[in-house]
Amino acid sequence: MTAAAPAPCAPRPPPRPTATPATPATPAIPATPALVVRALVAGYTSGVDILRGASLEVGRGEIVTVLGPNGAGKSTLIKAIAGLVPVRSGEVLLFGQSLLGAAAHRMVGRGLAYVPQTDNVFARLSVRENLELGACARRDRDGIEADLARMYALFPRLHERRRQAAGTLSGGERQMVALARALMARPTMLMLDEPSAGLSPKLVGVVFAKVREVRELGVTLLIVEQNARAALAISDRGYVLAEGREQVSGDAAALLANPEVGALYLGAKRGLM
Ligand SMILES: Nc1ncnc2c1ncn2[C@@H]1O[C@H](COP(=O)(O)OP(=O)(O)O)[C@@H](O)[C@H]1O
Ligand SMILES: [Mg+2]
Repeated sequence: MTAAAPAPCAPRPPPRPTATPATPATPAIPATPALVVRALVAGYTSGVDILRGASLEVGRGEIVTVLGPNGAGKSTLIKAIAGLVPVRSGEVLLFGQSLLGAAAHRMVGRGLAYVPQTDNVFARLSVRENLELGACARRDRDGIEADLARMYALFPRLHERRRQAAGTLSGGERQMVALARALMARPTMLMLDEPSAGLSPKLVGVVFAKVREVRELGVTLLIVEQNARAALAISDRGYVLAEGREQVSGDAAALLANPEVGALYLGAKRGLM
């Protein structure tokens, strides 16, 4: 005789007691950081190191800013992470996976997007075309349309200007196009190189407020900036880069209040005062 099959909606029997005792409570393992840069040495030409052992970490969901005077190596740091500058030694880990040796054009597929300091829009293409290009590695047509709508909701000005050539927009609007285009790739980690460069103080505020909103989409952000006050105001933590490595690091508020940081590395008049 075979056992009758249980009725489809029969209540589940209670779980059998297991022989093994319940696992004792263990301390939570900290999540792998979004980005780890360790002892990075990199430069454009052989024999000339611009980064000389730079290290930093960005936790998931954090906004971290790297500050430093002109020529400190901030752009080089971002470009080295993005695979655009030869790395001689050190480590770059994105969510625990090494990025070293990966071609720059593969980074988007790994979840890393980067907005360069200059030339970050296609000037002759419309706003909409710029945004579509940001999604060129994607094949999910419906998802792309939905993300376009999300970008227009995040940046209503871009919706108004969607048919206009990006090169005819104001500096602040172009920065929004660059930001939105990078987001169209659906990155988990976004790097911004001096998003405030060339903007009026009012527009700097507008752009950084958008950066905060971008974080709310679940994106982790690494920003390099000369505008210390504005960048730290929206950041969780910061690093000061000079002579190719980080010199000071800490909570954004602590860095803002640190007179030595202002005087030594940021240019007291321009950055903090
Ligand atoms: N394409 C390049 N080729 C050679 N040297 C470069 C190049 N770009 C920048 N450098 C040099 O690297 C150093 C750091 O520059 P950069 O990373 O642009 O500084 P920052 O972004 O902090 O102003 C500078 O001495 C600069 O001259
Ligand atoms: Mg730079």
